[in-house]
Amino acid sequence: MMKNAGRDVGGAPDIAVRQLSVWYNQMPALQNINLYLGAGQVMAIIGPSGCGKSTFLRVLNRMIERLPSVRVEGAVRIGHFDVFDDHVDVTGLRRAVGMVFQHPNPFPMTIFDNVAYGPRIFGIKSSAQLRKTVEDSLKQASLWDEVRGKMRRNAETLSGGQQQRLCIARALAVHPEVLLLDEPTASLDPVSSAKIEELIVQFKSHYTMIIVTHNLQQAARVSDVVAFFEQGRLIEMGYTQDIFTAPKEKRTEEFLTGRFD
Ligand SMILES: Nc1ncnc2c1ncn2[C@@H]1O[C@H](COP(=O)(O)OP(=O)(O)OP(=O)(O)O)[C@@H](O)[C@H]1O
Ligand SMILES: [Mg+2]
Repeated sequence: MMKNAGRDVGGAPDIAVRQLSVWYNQMPALQNINLYLGAGQVMAIIGPSGCGKSTFLRVLNRMIERLPSVRVEGAVRIGHFDVFDDHVDVTGLRRAVGMVFQHPNPFPMTIFDNVAYGPRIFGIKSSAQLRKTVEDSLKQASLWDEVRGKMRRNAETLSGGQQQRLCIARALAVHPEVLLLDEPTASLDPVSSAKIEELIVQFKSHYTMIIVTHNLQQAARVSDVVAFFEQGRLIEMGYTQDIFTAPKEKRTEEFLTGRFD
């Protein structure tokens, strides 16, 4: 089942979005989005509250389907996954596309069990192999040094910044190819935010990443390309430096300079 689970030869997959529209109760949340993100690139999505950023992330790994009264049109391809295809391996897709949310959401269980959760679901039974996967993932998320020797503690005893890195470790433990990060530092102090940003920069080219952020400096620091959304539409997408120094659209410029209403 996991064969060729969306992995492009040589690493992270690309993402192609064609004519994507989403409605909640007939109200449009995304309208005719077309974009392409190259393998291993980092895209930052910026735009005012309610413009559809979270909806866009959730639709990419079919999380949005859990909601009734939602209509989705268009096509999304992530590597070899045709995301909306009736026959797509949804479990494989969700393994390949990891997600991290604004508020750290560790499961109410031990640090070890949080990170081992996904690998266990995917059938790793050997405790030696589980321990190695957990340790590797915690190292990748720069949390290992802080939690080694405390693996049996409840995850909720960690600080917010540690919990967020734990959530990143949990996402990494199933060897994803794409990471979707929805305002991953919004609830964190500056030191913890900086740690998460460092991780994103380190992860570049190993994973294809999309990060939603209201912090424009953060978008400028971590991303290769920036997409500006407004009222469910993609107004402009381009290389980060171009968007910040010479946006083509007036609305983008107004948003970036704070002259936004
Ligand atoms: N479950 C839902 N049911 C109905 N409407 C929804 C639902 N989720 C989002 N919406 C609506 O869809 C639109 C886009 O919401 P979304 O959460 O994607 O915006 P956002 O850009 O992530 O905003 P923010 O920056 O505040 O997080 C909004 O108008 C919102 O009210
Ligand atoms: Mg949101």
